[in-house]
Amino acid sequence: MSQVILSGIRATGRLHFGNFLGAVQNFVKFQEQIDATCMYFVADWHTLTTLKDPEVLRSNLIEMIKDYIAAGLDPNKSIIYTQSSIPEIAELALYLSMFQPINELNLIPTYKELVRKNPDQVSLGLLSYPILMAADILGPRATMIPVGEDQIPNVELARSLAQRFNRRFGEIFVIPEMMEQMIKVPGLDGNKMGKSDNNSIEIGAPMNIIGKLYMKKGITDPERKHLMDLGDPYNRCKSVYGIHELITQDEKDLRVIANKCMKAEISCVECKKILVESIAKILIPFQEKRKELTDKDDYVSEILYEGGKRARSIIAKTVAVVRDKMGIVLYS
Ligand code: ADP
Ligand code: TRP
Repeated sequence: MSQVILSGIRATGRLHFGNFLGAVQNFVKFQEQIDATCMYFVADWHTLTTLKDPEVLRSNLIEMIKDYIAAGLDPNKSIIYTQSSIPEIAELALYLSMFQPINELNLIPTYKELVRKNPDQVSLGLLSYPILMAADILGPRATMIPVGEDQIPNVELARSLAQRFNRRFGEIFVIPEMMEQMIKVPGLDGNKMGKSDNNSIEIGAPMNIIGKLYMKKGITDPERKHLMDLGDPYNRCKSVYGIHELITQDEKDLRVIANKCMKAEISCVECKKILVESIAKILIPFQEKRKELTDKDDYVSEILYEGGKRARSIIAKTVAVVRDKMGIVLYS
């Protein structure tokens, strides 16, 4: 069976370094596999669960596609589209919802977290978020879903919905897998980098700003109060060493940084400087490419129309089978 790699990101704003490393860089790697169909989309319906300003949503979406392309996604190698261009996804979510116990939805950690933060803004759309996500995944019969760690429960739910449906109707859906190695990119405070957590690095930010942010807010080993205190990069420096570990290509360079920290031969400021240089190596080429796309909204629309058509023809085939299995006949 040929591979179908699929992933999406909500249009909540420009990408940050967490979703750039944790998700988009993997999207780009997979697109080089010749025997795989790669499908990457912006989950604009999912965005509506938290973002209410239509103008902001429209503009975020276009800017994010520019980020995708500048990061290396190639419309000739990947199908790039928006979720809402494919009404069959919403239709499939409706069919899938018939197989989904509500209790399980109440237990999804990302949902619980949002309920905890905003108990008075809990909509049905938010509760059923994972069902729509399952439709995103099962519609194109995706085999592999590259996402960050936080999305595991949602993908698990898609897997179990597919299994339930298949038990009832036969092998209609493919059971999607997750990547073996998922990463969690730490933010400035050492917790998972996230848009709404005030700890993220915007991938479009100038290098001097990124440098200042790390100098001011990047939390290093809290027990290394003086230069001569020995550091513990592995266990106590989640924010700065945590990123070194993810982006320093050469194992030897990484060990040198860790050893110097443990022997107090390098200060946290120096360590942050090295980090910002490594980040610059990744982000400057991205930013240069991104600048070329600034006023290319028409080009982005063309990519999305083309991608939307291709994705829709794939998804519509699955949904036609599902309709048939469930006894639905269209009379229009
Ligand atoms: P955010 O959590 O900032 O709102 P999104 O929910 O839009 O980010 O995430 C989009 C994709 O990026 C998902 O696959 C998610 O798992 C991944 N991702 C987001 N933040 C991180 C992070 N800090 N580390 C690794 N992956 C991440
Ligand atoms: N829930 C994902 C996130 O917050 C976005 C998403 C929606 C997604 N549908 C998907 C990711 C399907 C992978 C596959 O990042």
